[in-house]
Amino acid sequence: MCGIIGALCDHNVQDELLGALRRMEYRGYDSAGICVLDGGSFQQAKAAGKLSNLQRELASHPLSGRIGIGHTRWATHGEPTIINAHPHISANVALVHNGIIENHHQLRVQLVAQGYCFVSQTDTEVLPHLLEEKIQQRELLDAWREMLSEIEGAYAIAAIIRSLPGSLWFARKGSPLLLGRGAHGVYVASDALALAGLADEVMYIDDHHWGRLTLEGVELYDLSGNPVELEWDPLPVTAHDAEKDGFPHYMLKEIHEQPAVLRRILRQYVKGDGEIVFEQASFLHEKPLPQRIVMIACGTSYHAALTARYWLERYLKIPVEVDIASEYRYRDPVIGQHTLLVALSQSGETADTLEVLRMFKRHTPGNDALALCNVPSSSLAREADGLIELFAGPEIGVASTKAYMAQLAVLALLTLFMARRAGAMPEERVAEHLAALERAATDMEALLADTAAVRQAAALFADVRGALYLGRGPCYPMALEGALKLKEISYLHAEGYAAGEMKHGPIALIDHLIPVVVIAPKQYHLEKVISNLHEVQARGARVILIVDLPEAGIATDAACVLRVPEGDYFSTPLLVCIPLQLLAYEVACMLGTDVDQPRNLAKSVTVE
Ligand code: G6P
Repeated sequence: MCGIIGALCDHNVQDELLGALRRMEYRGYDSAGICVLDGGSFQQAKAAGKLSNLQRELASHPLSGRIGIGHTRWATHGEPTIINAHPHISANVALVHNGIIENHHQLRVQLVAQGYCFVSQTDTEVLPHLLEEKIQQRELLDAWREMLSEIEGAYAIAAIIRSLPGSLWFARKGSPLLLGRGAHGVYVASDALALAGLADEVMYIDDHHWGRLTLEGVELYDLSGNPVELEWDPLPVTAHDAEKDGFPHYMLKEIHEQPAVLRRILRQYVKGDGEIVFEQASFLHEKPLPQRIVMIACGTSYHAALTARYWLERYLKIPVEVDIASEYRYRDPVIGQHTLLVALSQSGETADTLEVLRMFKRHTPGNDALALCNVPSSSLAREADGLIELFAGPEIGVASTKAYMAQLAVLALLTLFMARRAGAMPEERVAEHLAALERAATDMEALLADTAAVRQAAALFADVRGALYLGRGPCYPMALEGALKLKEISYLHAEGYAAGEMKHGPIALIDHLIPVVVIAPKQYHLEKVISNLHEVQARGARVILIVDLPEAGIATDAACVLRVPEGDYFSTPLLVCIPLQLLAYEVACMLGTDVDQPRNLAKSVTVE
């Protein structure tokens, strides 16, 4: 969601602010703005829509100043117009914000009564006016502390103050924020990627911390105004991470990175003798196995958890509950003791998933919480009791691909690890499954090298009304994920369904304008899925069949067959990822949508 950048440099900051906003485009936004401070006055530029609009505005009216803030806004309160775009300004304060100020209405009424004039419909605009009001009456540090104590909700804030051209101000509660320092300046940002090429070191700001950054150093405080210890880390990304490497889209680049990601995961977690070791989750090795597992996530990460439920229950014989974070947190769940929470998130900043983790730790402090996360510096990774890192590298395409495959891969390893500890799987079987995962990396390369059949399948989606995806067992959630990928980037309506449930409703949709993607690897109830395939074909559906057998062995007259190499119980879903992702990608390209930044979507949903 919204991206924040603040920069204080030894030279003009406009281009650095714009470059940082560009590297945060992937977070999702619908307007943008920049404000710099020069000679005691604020200069700003804003634009609705893409950053190219802001860039055009800046080309005709360049800004100059060595300190400034910038923002990409994902609209929550008020439409994505120039007026509502950040920064928002009061007489002496310019400010950008990510999050939602929940008591904005009361604050607005109070500030209007005090004579402040509002121009936007945003919740954010109360912040510069509230701070303005406070700094009329008190020392700056007290003013900040008091403002923060009066606002409710979630925020990451960066601000500049007219009379202090040497200080960047910041505060965080619930939305990600970090500081950076490099050879030519200091920075505040939502995202490490924003600082690629600018900073060498970063400092992650914790919730309820705030302070000021100057070229000389940082002052960091807690909500009571006590100083907080400073901890700098090396910047975890490089400028190269933000490049497309010759691919037309980040999404395609990331789909192609999957064999390397899988190999990296296996190298990281499987030792030479076949032992599976999760170094950052030592409790998994040391404590008794849980009696119950609860897996929580949103979006694509939720789909990965759903597939893993089949694996874990089959081998561990313990109940595994999977839920959407935004539902779980409000439904008074019965957690109980001896329960392991597995919170899955690519970004580690998804507001609902994070809140479930916090709720779980508050309610049952004796239980352990494990994060499966791609960003080790994220809030989720830092707050959980243990981390299984995904090692997928920065994922920039909004539609998650390699992080999903990485989640499946580490969940397969987690299942094998726990099954081995429980004595539920003989050593030879564990070794066979590990070997199948190794093979899957090579098989993925073969799939990625020949995409002609996928392009042929994509052509069947011209002029359709929508699409249906069907699967059974661990491939049922893959049908959900295939449908989600298609709707996210092509804007076609698509539904994923358990193949056996298809007759209870969706079959009414079937005609030749609803292509049906049938996922039918031999591992998962092949004959039954093929019966479902015949049922939709009998009603005029054009079928795209994903199989791992020679199609002759199945005898269907599918409109298109996408073959994957044969895998085993764990590796098959990893292979099926590839045609599902490529199909969505090719359809989106055919329809001419914005593949990497689809409309209305945010990469990391940092507000609930
Ligand atoms: C957003 C993204 C999805 C992602 C979901 C969960 O909706 O657009 O691609 O799957 O958030 O994100 P997380 O970072 O928690 O996995």
